[in-house]
Formats: sequence, C-alpha cells, structure tokens
Amino acid sequence: MKWDKYKGKDIIPLWVADMDFLSPPAVIDALDKRVKHGIFGYTLPPDELYGIVISMLEKEYGWKTKKEWIVWLPGLVTGLSVVCRAVGKDNDDVMTAVPVYPPFLTAPANSSRNLIKTDLVEANGEWRFDFESMEKAITPRARLFLLCNPHNPVGRVYNIDELTSLASICIKHNIVISSDEIHCGLLLDPGKRHIPIASLSPETADRTITLMAPSKTFNLPGFGCSFAIISNPDLRKSFAAVMNGIVPRVNTMGYIAAIAAYRDSYDWQAALLDYLRENRDLVLSYVNGMPGLSSRQIEATYLAWIDTRRSGIKDPVKFFEDAGVGLSDGKEFGTPGFVRLNFGCQRSLLIKALERMATAVQKHAEGLFEVSR
Ligand SMILES: Cc1ncc(COP(=O)(O)O)c(C=O)c1O
Repeated sequence: MKWDKYKGKDIIPLWVADMDFLSPPAVIDALDKRVKHGIFGYTLPPDELYGIVISMLEKEYGWKTKKEWIVWLPGLVTGLSVVCRAVGKDNDDVMTAVPVYPPFLTAPANSSRNLIKTDLVEANGEWRFDFESMEKAITPRARLFLLCNPHNPVGRVYNIDELTSLASICIKHNIVISSDEIHCGLLLDPGKRHIPIASLSPETADRTITLMAPSKTFNLPGFGCSFAIISNPDLRKSFAAVMNGIVPRVNTMGYIAAIAAYRDSYDWQAALLDYLRENRDLVLSYVNGMPGLSSRQIEATYLAWIDTRRSGIKDPVKFFEDAGVGLSDGKEFGTPGFVRLNFGCQRSLLIKALERMATAVQKHAEGLFEVSR
C-alpha cells in the first residue's frame, strides 16, 4: 500500500505507518515453519501467547494483567470502532485530542456517536493536553475519551502527571478511557518510559480499555494480530457483545508472528530503535533548518509531525509530491497546515527525500522573497 500509491512515479513514499524493514528473523523463521506444517484451519489464541503478553506487560511496564482480561482483535482500527459502540448509547459524545490518528475522528460517527475535539497545545516546546479546555468541553453525554499514547502523530510519550490528570478528569466525569498504545514499543528517548494508563490505579483500570499490538514495533501490520486488555468484566462483556458474529478471529499466521516477535525479537527491536533514533535526529535537523517548517521533539514512533504554516505553502502534500516526496496530510488528523513524515525507512532513502524537500522549500522561500521585494 505504501509503495503502490506512487507506483510508476518518482515520489518517495513516506506516508502510511509501515516501515520498509524486513520483519525480525525469528518471525520469518516461525512463519516459514508454520507454512511447512501445511494445514491452516481456524485457530484459538495460543496459551503460550497469553503468557508471553502477560509477562511482557509486567516486565516492561510493571503492569500485572490476567489472561481473562485479554480480547484478541484482527486490528486496532476495528478495536476503536468496537470501543465506540461498546460504551454508551447512540448520540452520546466521544472525546479526543487533535491532531490524532484519523480513525479516532471517524470511528465515533461510524458508531452513531458525536465527536468532541479538544486541541493539543504547544507549550514549553512540546505538545500537551490542555486540561482546562478539555474539562470545559465535557458534556453531560460525554461517555468515552479516545487516548493515543504514545501519540500518533505528535510523538509524545505522556508522563505520569499528565496521565494522572487525564485519569482524574475521566473518573470525575464518569468517562471511559480507550487507550491506544500501539506505538508503546517504539520509545526513542532513553529517558522516557511508557506508562499504560490502566496501570496507574485499580480505579483507572476499571474504566479503561487498552489497545495494543506487536504490529508497529515489529513491522507486522499486514497480519492483523492485536488485542484489548479490559479488567472490568462489564466493559469486557459489552465489548465482546459488539464483536459477536461480526469481528473475525485473528488468523493463525498473526498469532505465530506475535509469539516470535514478543518472545524472540528483543535484540532486533533494540537495533531498530538505535536506527530510528538516528533517522529521527536527521529529520529534525533537516526539517528545522527548512525556512518556515518546524517539528517538535519526537519521543516515540517513527513519525514526524511537521508544521508548514509559516512557510506560505498552500497545499503542502501536493507541494511535496511535486518535489518527489509523499507525506500524510495533516487535514486527515484534524489539523491542516501540517504533514506527517514516516522515517521508518533506509537512511539513504530518507536523506534523498529530505534533500528533495529542502531544495523545494528553499526555492519556494526564495520565490516568496522575490515577490515581497
Ligand atoms: C494509533 C494507531 N492505532 C491503530 C493503528 C492501526 O492499527 P491496525 O493496523 O491494527 O488496525 C495505527 C496505525 O498506524 C495507529 O497509529
């Protein structure tokens, strides 16, 4: 999908959140072995995978979970839509903070819910929640908050104070939290730590549906193996009732890939993070040197959120496509004037794309200068 969009055109695709890297060797070997088995029937979630996920959550985040809390899903976009239908009633309100991953903006309407958007704000050089305006925006019909942590597209890893403030607002107003943590294996700043919001307190866990998957970290999005963690039995029951008869099972290969990713691919992940960290630094130094463009620090993900509003470029996606680079449009994330750049690719390709962007932006800036003189 990433490469086919611009097939036959000289446009480097740095848009959808797929990486250009081979999956970990352990994953490829495990899949290879499974293919040789030759029988591909319906599959139950393997016991081994429950154990692997539970111990990974405890080891990485100190979060103690139970097997019965885990609900397997064939994708987290599916999960977002299931959450919207499982919480509250038709015409209730669902809140989120923009910019955000586009399905957060479409899942509520697809589920007969209204969307209430609050803005992330730039403060002290980083993207933050604006709790004051968030609380003001809460309506009597607000039932659900869709959280993205680490946040796609701004790359923030929310700290314990921010998560605690968010959780207390949701507790105070009786709002369920859906916490999409699909990017939690992609922390680039060694000083940062991912905190699953459900791990803050039993009271927070009781109103939280956490969504996770190995797909982003280990580059397996095509397999659709993901999961929700729901400790509250009533919420879990509503979630399962919405899924019933509609949401398909996870396929055999997805489970096999997930086992090999979480169990056998830590070294691969560490090497990936080193590589991405250097790509991230490169992107920031190029972008922040382009006249009128800027990007804040990217604490996690392989996505850069670039502000083009001061550049005078009218349609940034078209502008950069004309320059030979395919980016995602900020409009789809709720914030026009921004573009998202995926740096999960080989460094030589990234440099080529950044050079193309820099040349085009420089030319544009000189053109503007000519006109204004
Ligand atoms: C925050 C977030 N949630 C969900 C997804 C997609 O999940 P899935 O492919 O499992 O539907 C993405 C993909 O980019 C994402 O960034």
